Amino acid sequence: MRGLPPRRRSGAARAAGTAGPGAARVADVTRASESLPPELHDYLVAHGAPVDPVLADLAAETARLYPDLTTMQIGPEQGTFMTLLARIGGARDVVEVGTFTGYSAICMARGIPEDGTLLALDVSEEWTALARRYWERAGIAHKVRLRLGPALDTLRELPEDRRFDLAFIDADKEGYIGYWEELVPRMRPGGVLLVDNTLSHGRVVDPAETSAPVQGIRDFNDHALADERVELVLLPVGDGLTMARKRD
Ligand SMILES: C[S@@+](CC[C@H](N)C(=O)[O-])C[C@H]1O[C@@H](n2cnc3c(N)ncnc32)[C@H](O)[C@@H]1O
Repeated sequence: MRGLPPRRRSGAARAAGTAGPGAARVADVTRASESLPPELHDYLVAHGAPVDPVLADLAAETARLYPDLTTMQIGPEQGTFMTLLARIGGARDVVEVGTFTGYSAICMARGIPEDGTLLALDVSEEWTALARRYWERAGIAHKVRLRLGPALDTLRELPEDRRFDLAFIDADKEGYIGYWEELVPRMRPGGVLLVDNTLSHGRVVDPAETSAPVQGIRDFNDHALADERVELVLLPVGDGLTMARKRD
């Protein structure tokens, strides 16, 4: 992750953020953790749940087949966090927007019961074919319903009464607000939405960065913060993970 190094927050960085002056002062006197040195990250991963051979092989095969796309996959500590979160929250109905080769889907599916379901949405037949192989190997394929096609269309076509306990948004960044608006009403009270890459590798606070994906993330972050249907926190996990709880 290429975030700002700890404790070197620039004035420009603060100016680009949306938090008020009080929050900026808090940030000055507390420890920043959005970026970890590699050795500390290794230590953190080594002291979380060990990555099992299925996930390790999936990561390796993804890297071999798609060497330029490895950053699409969530990291091991985020995967373990998502498994635990699903389990702690007792999630049964999960939806994922953006599946790629299936790493995050395995992590969430492991945290739900045998009769739970994970609706996995993606546009890529090729990438999700690899996912399917690993879902079989991980023993969670029976929980996964893969739907190929633009995720916004798939979400809009779901039955009116379809509800979720846990949602993970990790597809095209310009589409985040659209996915959010489809999903928030479908979350059960107390349900959790996870949204990935909400620090955009530190670029959210770089005023010179005006690309559509980064602006999409900024717009999403402001949109979600203003949404009174949820309470949320932006965690420095991976490339920034927003965790929102639908209010009762
Ligand atoms: C960052 S990757 C997902 C990574 C995955 N969650 C993981 O941890 O392995 C983003 C995925 O979103 C998919 N995607 C992009 N635009 C999409 C759209 N409009 N509808 C559905 N999927 C889309 C891409 O095909 C890609 O597989």
